[in-house]
Order: sequence, then structure tokens, then C-alpha cells
Amino acid sequence: HRTPLLSLDKAYSLDEVMAWVDKYRRTPDELLLIEPKYDGISANYSDRVLATRGDGVDGEDISDKLPLIELEAPGYRGPLNRPARGEIVIRDDDFRTLYSHITKKGGGLYKNSRNAVAGLMGLKEIDDMLGQGAKLTLVDYDLISIQVTAEELPKRWGAILEEIETKPYPMDGLVIKLADHAYAESLGATSHHPRGAIAYKFTNLRAETKLLGVEWSFGKNCLTPVALLEPVDLGG
Ligand code: IVH
Repeated sequence: HRTPLLSLDKAYSLDEVMAWVDKYRRTPDELLLIEPKYDGISANYSDRVLATRGDGVDGEDISDKLPLIELEAPGYRGPLNRPARGEIVIRDDDFRTLYSHITKKGGGLYKNSRNAVAGLMGLKEIDDMLGQGAKLTLVDYDLISIQVTAEELPKRWGAILEEIETKPYPMDGLVIKLADHAYAESLGATSHHPRGAIAYKFTNLRAETKLLGVEWSFGKNCLTPVALLEPVDLGG
């Protein structure tokens, strides 16, 4: 990627989200955008190349999968014919209808839409899948965006969660962004995430486990400690 595609900082409660909001809001009326945190494969389409995010620096060129992919962007649904940044997913309705008939290469059905996306992405040859009517969707991150002020957010939180959860896309949380793009940009980024956005992860599943050791991951300019944990079951 010409510029690294970063990750997002994470919050696990409304309190943690509000701590971030209070840190960066300039007035109580600061506008925020609330979006689904899509659970798929992050991808970028520009100059007719579709690439995964990968580790943020090096992605994978998946342009050969374009015939399988439909873009959903504000006011548009159809072939990928414009630059877009978003997530490749299978819509919940498509998974229920199409993928109950589509058989994997070795036979059998895909267990869930996330497996199916990964499976399709790993194929060398997509003709069989096209023949079976398989379809993937690149959801532009701008597609669904609920505007709310910093001050209103706590009282509208529950309703916003409900509204977003009814959307037909696999998601594992919300993304909260500062609506003022120039302001968000001016805050810059750490090596891991931009400061102008945060992810709220759906998860009430937590477990305690043992730290077995630490391995150092050698990056370009930094060393990142990686925790080795004793495996623990978390909702399967
Ligand atoms: S904005 C650096 N908006 O979640 C800003 N990302 O865990 C990221 N993601 O790397 C782009 N839904 O791949 C954005 N509505 C959304 C998103 C979203 C899912 C992905 C994205 C990011 C990862 C962080």
C-alpha cells in the first residue's frame, strides 16, 4: 500500500467510548459518525486493483476475484467501477439463500459466512463458484453512517446499537469516527491506529488464561511484543 492501512483502537464499553469522545471533542456538539464494524476482509480498490489490507503494509492482490464482487456504496450497488475502501463480506440474506446450495471445492457447505469469504478468497480458480452463483459484497465504509453529537451519544447509544445490528451484514462491533475529516486527520495516528476513530467491540465473552511467554515481532521500525497465551475456549 502507498500509505499503510492502519488498524483501529478498541473499546469494550460505552464508558471507554466516552473517554475517547471526551478526549477529542472540541465542543458538546462535536459530530460523530457511527458505523458497523464489518467482520470480513478489509480491502481497497484503486487503479483497477483490488487488494486486501494484509498486515497494513503488504496486502494481497485479489483482482482475479472481481467477477464475484458487488460493490455497495452510498447511492450505488453494482460492479466495482469506482475507487472504494471497505470490507468484503457475504450479506446475511445472500448467505441464507445462495450459500445453502453452494458446495465447496471438496464438497459440503460453508459453515458460516466468514468461512465462506475466506474460502472463496483462497481459491485459485473461481469459475466453478461463478457457475454456482456465488457472490461477495464489498461494503464501502461510507455506506452506513449514523450522525450523532458527542453530547447525545450516551442517550442514543442503545437505539443506535439496535438500528445498526438489524443491518444485513456480518459485524463484530461499531466504529465511531470524528465526522470532521480534516480535524480527524490533524490528530494523526500512532503506529497502530489513527486517533480520530475507535472501534467498539461486541463481546461479553471474557476469560482468564495464562501468559506462557512473549515473542518479539520484528517490524520495520519497531519491535512488538506478542503474548503467547494458554488456549482457552471462548464461545467456540
Ligand atoms: S475505517 C484505520 N470503518 O476494522 C481506519 N474500518 O480493526 C480503518 N473495519 O483495519 C478504516 N469496519 O479493516 C473503518 N466501518 C469501518 C470498519 C472498519 C471494519 C476494519 C478495518 C480496520 C479494522 C480495525
